[in-house]
Amino acid sequence: MSFRITYSVLDADMTALHAHFDEALAVVRGGLGGEHPSWIAGEAFRSGDLLESRNPARPAELLASVHRTPVGEVARVMRTAKEAQRRWARVPWQERALVLRRAADLISARRFTLAAIMSLEVGKNRLESLGDVEESADLLRYYAGQFEEAQGFVRPMARLSSGESTLSVLRPYGVFVVIAPFNFPLALAAGMSAGALLGGNAVVLKPSEEAPWCAEGLYQALVEAGLPEGVLQVVHGEGETLGAALVDHPEVDGVAFTGSRSVGYGIHARLNAAGIRPCFLELGGKNPAIVCQEADLEDAIEGCFRSAFGLSGQKCSALSRVYVHEDLKRGFLAGLSKKALDVRAGDPSLAETFMGPVINAAAVRRFEQAAAEARREGTVHAGGVRVRPSAELAEGHFVAATVAELEHGHRLMREELFLPFVGVTGFRTLEEALGMANDCAYGLTAGIFSQKAEDVEAFMERAEAGVLYANRRAGATTGAWPGVQAFCGWKGSGSTGKGGCGPYYVAQFMREQSQTRV
Ligand code: NAD
Ligand code: ALA
Repeated sequence: MSFRITYSVLDADMTALHAHFDEALAVVRGGLGGEHPSWIAGEAFRSGDLLESRNPARPAELLASVHRTPVGEVARVMRTAKEAQRRWARVPWQERALVLRRAADLISARRFTLAAIMSLEVGKNRLESLGDVEESADLLRYYAGQFEEAQGFVRPMARLSSGESTLSVLRPYGVFVVIAPFNFPLALAAGMSAGALLGGNAVVLKPSEEAPWCAEGLYQALVEAGLPEGVLQVVHGEGETLGAALVDHPEVDGVAFTGSRSVGYGIHARLNAAGIRPCFLELGGKNPAIVCQEADLEDAIEGCFRSAFGLSGQKCSALSRVYVHEDLKRGFLAGLSKKALDVRAGDPSLAETFMGPVINAAAVRRFEQAAAEARREGTVHAGGVRVRPSAELAEGHFVAATVAELEHGHRLMREELFLPFVGVTGFRTLEEALGMANDCAYGLTAGIFSQKAEDVEAFMERAEAGVLYANRRAGATTGAWPGVQAFCGWKGSGSTGKGGCGPYYVAQFMREQSQTRV
């Protein structure tokens, strides 16, 4: 399917981009501290029980408070969703696709405001926030296009006798609970919700409690685009309470979840304890890059740097392990460490910032523990410390970009840290490097740097991950885009088998029915 990417922050006029961002940021800053409702049955719901959203760069700064949805409201939410879904499923698919396309255009038109909110709420730098917003819009367009290309997934089948005609049609499941993580607060909420909505399902969306404000932009755009009342409801609260209550509700027909492996596995077990229902899990990663003897060292250093430290290492696709040929190891470690030491963590809403804070105090504690372990059991070549960028940001959740040399079997080379922390190990043969790269419970993304075609081919053939990149200076393991890289987690990185951003995503949200007419 041909798909035109509508906007790229990378091709934009940077002066104009920053001027628009500054303008939007000033407006957003003027409205800080407001209260935002949950959205139930088409109405603003205010429980009075407030969940605070704070700026990870300045935790004293209250950005917004959202009204939690009490667990006691879940039954009403589900009842509303069931009723709304029956009506939505009868809306012609062309109209459903149009609603999504209109919402995409609204999101694009509001890109600077939505991105400014995101930089404040989750600490993404300007370009990362704009990328997230544009990815959201492109996901809606790309998935709408899948429906259009498949003509609504209605397909005439062969005839057994001349008097019969048979159709294969894809029909909705009913109500999907969509549970989103903090790190792509708009794109992932948008992508999962869009898949379900296009298929004629209703959605109950629970955004991350770390990024509740960002999700409001998605709700507003879809409602303004014509989504009928109750088809999408947005409920706010913590995962262990509200999230669990949603998953446990007997009327749920399916769950789309993106988040950590442990939470995802728990949701899968609970959902299917009482019957078999679709449960799409898009989970974490421990993504490796292999730097071969014939690599272009500069490209490898640049690609690894961007993937390890972009978004402070808080991408599911982030690079967290590098296997480098022994002959290049010293040069690679020196080059990557120099770039890491040059990173100045700072306020992500400012034009010059590359790396903002990590999401919360728990992430800082996880970092300090990992750094101590790396010092004890390996060699820290760069970082390994907490950072205070300025007196004004002294309480912010800032940590240094960290490069550590570690043994392959070390815990820090196996467990997802979700931090700006990359471990490096040497190898002698590609066989050995592929063995170590694949010796992992996760299988999301992986990269290789080599000028030898046989190395790249061996990697493409044997790497156990859903998203592979070779010789990519723009990002060794990161940077997938809707309609360009299908994003499918293998092994412990996911259950869908058909990734977001890819051509088979939308069809999963429906079940097949054969209709024979005489
Ligand atoms: P998380 O697992 O802590 O939380 C994700 C969501 O699950 C949140 O909305 C949370 O409230 C909810 N939740 C928590 N416990 C729950 C429970 N018991 N029942 C129901 N819901 C519950 O993840 P996070 O910290 O927000 O995000 C980071 C993780 O997400 C990383 O592991 C990252 O790799 C992964 N991720 C994966 C992808 C992908 O496409 N594969 C994309 C982005 C992030
Ligand atoms: N789309 C994001 C990336 O590939 C997750 O880095």
